[in-house]
This record gives sequence, structure tokens and C-alpha cells, in this order.
Amino acid sequence: MVLKKSVLFLGLVAQACSSSPEINKQDSVENSVATGKNLYTLNCSSCHGADGKLGLSGAKDLTQSVLSDKQRLDIITNGKNAMPSMKEALGSTQNIQSVADYVKSLKK
Ligand code: HEC
Repeated sequence: MVLKKSVLFLGLVAQACSSSPEINKQDSVENSVATGKNLYTLNCSSCHGADGKLGLSGAKDLTQSVLSDKQRLDIITNGKNAMPSMKEALGSTQNIQSVADYVKSLKK
């Protein structure tokens, strides 16, 4: 029995290694936006509103934002004036990127 299990396990490892790491770019951007929406709802909508327009305590209307990708990442990571740093709350640079992609998608 033990032997049979380990053979199965090796089979799975071999399969995982042989599967192509290539990810469809468009897919990964869309996944990122979906994750970003959840993160945004949890961490950002209290000040920015579900649609990005709320503007509580001087928050900018995110649909009118003219920031570059780099500036947007920087403000989300480090905060600015009344906006706190979101680095801890978001937990990873991957999550920061996802939420930034989502915020960008709010723009008309
Ligand atoms: C406590 C309230 C608060 C929370 C929570 C908050 N923000 Fe902000 N945000 C602000 C304020 C206030 C500003 C305006 C800062 C300034 O320029 O003085 C701002 C500005 C921004 C800007 C810059 C917009 C521009 O065009 O200048 C972005 C992008 C942004 N927030 C994204 C986010 C994201 C994404 C989250 C969640 C991860 C978030 N914010 C959470 C209050 C908040």
C-alpha cells in the first residue's frame, strides 16, 4: 500500500513539472482585476466608495485619477496625506498590483 501511494505521488509530481508554465497574459490580467476588486472592497471602499468616487476625508475620485502606474502603486503602498499605507493590509506586492489594476479599471 505504501509503495502504491508513493508511485502515485511521483506520478503527480512528474505531471506538475511537465505542465507548461506559460500563462495566457490576458487571463492573468483579468484574474488580477477580479482579486483586486475583492481587495478593494475590503480595504479601500470605506474611503473611496464602491465605484471609486466617494472621496471621504479628501480622498481623490479614482475614476478621474491621472496617475501613472508607478505613482498609483507608490500611493497604495506608502499612502499620501490622509491616506494610510496599505502595504500591511494588502499583505503582498502581488495583492498591491492586483488592487492597482482594479483601480485603473475604474477609470472611464
Ligand atoms: C482612510 C481612508 C482611505 C483608505 C482606506 C484608502 N484611501 Fe486612497 N486616498 C485617501 C485620500 C484621503 C487620498 C488623497 C491623498 C492626497 O492626495 O492628499 C487618497 C488617494 C488615493 C489615490 C491617488 C488618487 C490620485 O489621483 O491622486 C489612489 C490611487 C488611492 N487612494 C487608492 C487607494 C486604494 C487602492 C486603497 C485600498 C487599498 C485606498 N486608496 C484606501 C484615503 C483613503
